[in-house]
Amino acid sequence: MDELPAARPDADPGAVIATRALTKRYRGGQLAVDRLDLSVPAGSVFGFLGPNGSGKTTTIRMLMGLIEPTSGTARVLGQHMPRAERTVLPQVGALIEGPALYGFLSGRDNLLRYDAADPSADSRTRSARVAVALERVGLAAAAGKKAKAYSLGMKQRLGLAAALLRPRRLLVLDEPTNGLDPQGMREIRSLVRELASDGTTVFLSSHLLDEIEQVCTHAAVMAKGRLITQGLVADLAAGLHGRLAVTTPDPGDAARVLKEQGVTDVVVTGDRVTGDPPERDLAEVNALLVAAGVRVRGFGLERPSLEDAFVALTGEGFDVAG
Ligand SMILES: Nc1ncnc2c1ncn2[C@@H]1O[C@H](COP(=O)(O)OP(=O)(O)OP(=O)(O)O)[C@@H](O)[C@H]1O
Ligand SMILES: [Mg+2]
Repeated sequence: MDELPAARPDADPGAVIATRALTKRYRGGQLAVDRLDLSVPAGSVFGFLGPNGSGKTTTIRMLMGLIEPTSGTARVLGQHMPRAERTVLPQVGALIEGPALYGFLSGRDNLLRYDAADPSADSRTRSARVAVALERVGLAAAAGKKAKAYSLGMKQRLGLAAALLRPRRLLVLDEPTNGLDPQGMREIRSLVRELASDGTTVFLSSHLLDEIEQVCTHAAVMAKGRLITQGLVADLAAGLHGRLAVTTPDPGDAARVLKEQGVTDVVVTGDRVTGDPPERDLAEVNALLVAAGVRVRGFGLERPSLEDAFVALTGEGFDVAG
């Protein structure tokens, strides 16, 4: 039995997505999402981060009313899902794993048909809106091609175009750069930034840490169905200290001096010596290295990454390559 938690005092009433103890256990018994409390602030670009199988798509399906939670609640744009899906969904653009396409129709005709199925969409502006959306995702030149001849990346772009047919308050994108080449990934990232600067809240899932770091203001980290942490991307890494890194042709001497000066966990890799910095002025440490005859070519603190934060939080590696 899942207990009903008391109202959380820190719950943000203006949150665009808010879940409370949201849980999904699949029929086979798999606990895919475990008492998730998520709070996505308005105007954020929110990264939903986690390795394969951590429950991202399952959460998104519950948020979009595609599957019922086993227990707990989900609010999207202030309204209960799936109960209010008729009023909520027209305001939300969504791209969920494997967009459904008609292979025998062109990309453009798929979008025309998709828009026509939406009773709240204006038919007079339809073809113009479709053209703009195709342009935005870089599919204008391939718009007349049959969707079954699209590559994975092109299908993904078409799914994204469908989410962009109308102005939305919220975009929910499940692994939007899946299947895209590096250039395509850059295009999607700049599109996400552009949409966010228009005031759209963007919630996107990814298992690519550097992608989240580059584009998101906020992030939540999932592992095995559970929320590990959420907050500002800048804060997630800020709890960690950077590593002190010294580049030198005299790594043995450097390591000895650094240890004497209170540097711990000293690691020598070729001409690089790194360690956890001591609680003292690093300029002094640098001066002592030089005074000891160490030829210092580089000296500085390395900024911890979101990947460092993930590893520190979960005690696990992260499958960055996917
Ligand atoms: N329809 C289903 N029936 C049973 N189990 C499922 C179903 N869909 C997903 N699962 C299981 O639930 C867990 C979470 O899966 P989910 O697809 O939500 O993960 P994800 O974070 O989106 O992973 P990925 O990064 O691979 O897309 C996994 O263990 C998965 O095997
Ligand atoms: Mg998924």
